[in-house]
Amino acid sequence: MAENGERASFSGKIGFVLATSASAVGLGNLWRFPYETSHYGGGIFVLIYVVLAFTFGISLILMETSFGRRTGKSCVAAFSGFAKKYRFIGYLAAIIPMLIVPYYCVIGGWVLKWFFESVTGNLGTLAEDGGGYWWDIVTGSTDSGFFGPSLWFLIFAALCIVCIIIGVDKGIEKLSKILMPLLLVMIVGIMVYELTLPGIADGISFYLNPNLDALGPDTFLGAVGQIFWSLSIAMGILITYGSYTKKDVDLTESAVMVGVIDTVVAVMAGMMIVPVAFMFGFGDSNGMGLMFEALPQVFMSMPAGNVVAPLFYLLVIFAALTSAVSLAETCASVFNDGTRLDRKRSSGVTAVLILVVGLFCALSFDNGPLSFSIPLDQGVGLLGVLDSVTNSIMMPIAAILTCLFVGYVVKTTYLEEEIELSGEFKFKPVFRVMVKYLAPVFLTMILVFGILDLVGVSLW
Ligand code: PFF
Repeated sequence: MAENGERASFSGKIGFVLATSASAVGLGNLWRFPYETSHYGGGIFVLIYVVLAFTFGISLILMETSFGRRTGKSCVAAFSGFAKKYRFIGYLAAIIPMLIVPYYCVIGGWVLKWFFESVTGNLGTLAEDGGGYWWDIVTGSTDSGFFGPSLWFLIFAALCIVCIIIGVDKGIEKLSKILMPLLLVMIVGIMVYELTLPGIADGISFYLNPNLDALGPDTFLGAVGQIFWSLSIAMGILITYGSYTKKDVDLTESAVMVGVIDTVVAVMAGMMIVPVAFMFGFGDSNGMGLMFEALPQVFMSMPAGNVVAPLFYLLVIFAALTSAVSLAETCASVFNDGTRLDRKRSSGVTAVLILVVGLFCALSFDNGPLSFSIPLDQGVGLLGVLDSVTNSIMMPIAAILTCLFVGYVVKTTYLEEEIELSGEFKFKPVFRVMVKYLAPVFLTMILVFGILDLVGVSLW
C-alpha cells in the first residue's frame, strides 16, 4: 500500500485484487467450504454456491467496494457521513469481524497443531481412529486435556496480534504472494494423487453430481452464509478496502477477479477434501472437523506423505494468518475510528477481545470447562453459536440494510457514477435490479429461514 495524500492506497488494480484475495482466501475456502459441502449434500451445494457467488456475491463485492471508494471512508464513517441515523448499519457490519476473529484463531490453532504433529513425525496419531483424534483434541479428551487446544489457539492468536501491533502484516502479505500460488499447486498435486486411489469415484460423484433430493431451503441458507464468510462480504472490510482504491482502478473487473479467485480456490479445496472424506466413510453430512479428520489419512497413504503433510499445513497456516490479520485489522480500525483510542491501544483492545472470546470458544466444546448447551451451539459451544448467529442472522441483516441504503437512500446512481469513472459499466441494469430488488428479497427470505432454523422450526 502506498501513501497518497492523507489516505493510504493500493498500488493499482493488481494491488487491490491481491490484497483483497489474500484476505478472502483462507479457512473459509479450505476448512469451511468442504465441510459445508459435505453437510449440505455435495454437488447440489457446489452448484448453488458457484451460481450465487458469481451473481449475488460479485454484485455485493462491487457494491461495497464502490461505496467505500465513493465515500473514501471506512465502514462506520461511510454510513454516518450521510446522517447519524445510518451509523448503526456501519456498526452492525463492524461488529461481525469482532465475533468471527476469536473463533477464527481457534481454528487457526488446530492447523498449527496439525502442522506441529506432522512435522514431528506424528502423522499416524492424526489419522488414528479414522480421524477421531480431532474430536478428542477439541473436547479435551487427550492427555493434554484442554491445555492442548488452548495452547495452540494462544500461539495462533499471538502470531496474529504481533502482526497487527508491530505491523509485519505487509511482510506476510508479500510472502503470501509466493506462498498462495504454492498452496494452489499443492492442492492440485494432492487432488491428482487422490484420483489414483481405488474407490474415489463415488466420492467424486458425490462432490460433482447435483443430487436434487438433497435440495432444500437450508442449502441456500448454507450457501449464502458461506458466500458472506468466504468473500468477506457484509463485514465492512470491503468498504474499507474500496476506500483505499485509486479512482482509475476498474472496480467491476476487480470484483469479478476477486470473486473468481476465491471461488476457484474453494471449489478446488472441496475437490481435495470432500471425495476422499466420502470415500473414508465420513458420509454425506459431516461437520467442522472434516479437513482435520480426512486429510491425515490421505497423507498417511501417500508416498512421502510425511513431507507433503507439514508443507501443506504450513501453507494453510499462512493463508489463515493473512485472513486473520485482516479481520483483526478491521476490528482495530473500528476501535480506532469510533473511540479516542490510538492505533496501539485499539490493537490492544482487539488483542484482549481475541484472547477472552477465543479462549471461551476453545474451552466450550462438549464437556469443556466452559461448555453450555443451548440449541444454537450444535455441540461445538460458543464457536458454533458465534458462527450461526453471524452467518444466519447478522450478515444477512447487514447486507439487506446496505442494499436498501444504497438502493433507496443514496440511490444506485451514486455507485454507478463511481464505477463508471474507470470505464463503461456493462452490467448496470443487472446491478441495479440485484441491489434494489433481488438481493433484499432473497436475503430477507434467507434471514427468516435462518431464524426459524436456529430456533428449530423446520419448514421443509
Ligand atoms: N474470507 C476469509 C476466509 O475465507 O477465511 C475470512 C475473512 C477474512 C472474513 C477477513 C472477513 C475478513 F474481513
